[in-house]
Amino acid sequence: MKSMAKPVVIAVVNHKGGCSKTTTAVNLASSLATGNVEMGIKARRVLLIDLDPKGNVATTFGIDKRTLGPTMNELFKGGIDGTQVSLNQCLLGPGNLTQSMKKSWRKHNPEKKRGPPKEIAINNLWILPADLDLSGVEIDLATRFGREARLKSVLVQAEEHFDVIIIDTPASLGLLTTNALTAAQWVLIPIQAEFYALEGMGQLMNMIKDVQKAVNPDLRLFGIVLTMVQTRSKLCETVTEQARKYFGDRVFTTQIARSISIAESPLEGAPIVIAKKPNKSNPASQNLWDFAKEADLRIQRIQGN
Ligand SMILES: Nc1ncnc2c1ncn2[C@@H]1O[C@H](COP(=O)(O)OP(=O)(O)OP(=O)(O)O)[C@@H](O)[C@H]1O
Ligand SMILES: [Mg+2]
Repeated sequence: MKSMAKPVVIAVVNHKGGCSKTTTAVNLASSLATGNVEMGIKARRVLLIDLDPKGNVATTFGIDKRTLGPTMNELFKGGIDGTQVSLNQCLLGPGNLTQSMKKSWRKHNPEKKRGPPKEIAINNLWILPADLDLSGVEIDLATRFGREARLKSVLVQAEEHFDVIIIDTPASLGLLTTNALTAAQWVLIPIQAEFYALEGMGQLMNMIKDVQKAVNPDLRLFGIVLTMVQTRSKLCETVTEQARKYFGDRVFTTQIARSISIAESPLEGAPIVIAKKPNKSNPASQNLWDFAKEADLRIQRIQGN
């Protein structure tokens, strides 16, 4: 089935390391793809792109990076060194992801003979994985014409097939992040609720302005989400207040709490929004689903449906 409207492309960006970019990207992509009838989130066809050489996105789904075929790297190089792979050849689809998550579940729960619960599965989600070689691509591209638009040109192949495309980026404002900002229409910025959190924001906003001026005038702020929030902490309240002052209603009402189950979920080999049903016993999953609900409303507004 093909999508009618053009996909909404969201880059998850913050050059500060460890502020929850990958966690936010993976769980948002998984919730939007799964949908949730009770919460009124309709399932969408989602492509999740890893632009970080660390390749954490694949790991989150329990995928062994050594088993990957062609990845982002080959796509970026396409046409430069003669090899030309298609986007389709590099994608891992819902079947692969489900299989891999079930395998991880069995590995981590060897005592549970009945096997993984039926929730450990996903429809509608495709990932475009990355691996370490991608850092070399950044250097390779540095002197090439049109270097910031490589991803944008690759995504032309995705246009008809997805409703939403989410791009995870590395903790830098280098060429890979520039590629994400050139290919996207929207920027989602996770901010860790801590004292220095807003310090690098000026630099990031300047970069967004530069990209808008030079190559992508349509680029806009999708939202700011506060992450790793510890409730009842004065510091978090201060950061939230400051974020609201600068970014107004672009700041999501839902804040992602710091939670050990979010930190541990990559070990289990499935994003927490899939592994744990959103309810009172699984507040971390509920929290990320509430965020997805807010994001879904913004996407609906963008798509006019
Ligand atoms: N809400 C949270 N509560 C507790 N731990 C979290 C939360 N969000 C993320 N983490 C953990 O913090 C670490 C950093 O998160 P993540 O990898 O998502 O950040 P990142 O911004 O993508 O990092 P990098 O800049 O290195 O790519 C990970 O170990 C992750 O499991
Ligand atoms: Mg990351």
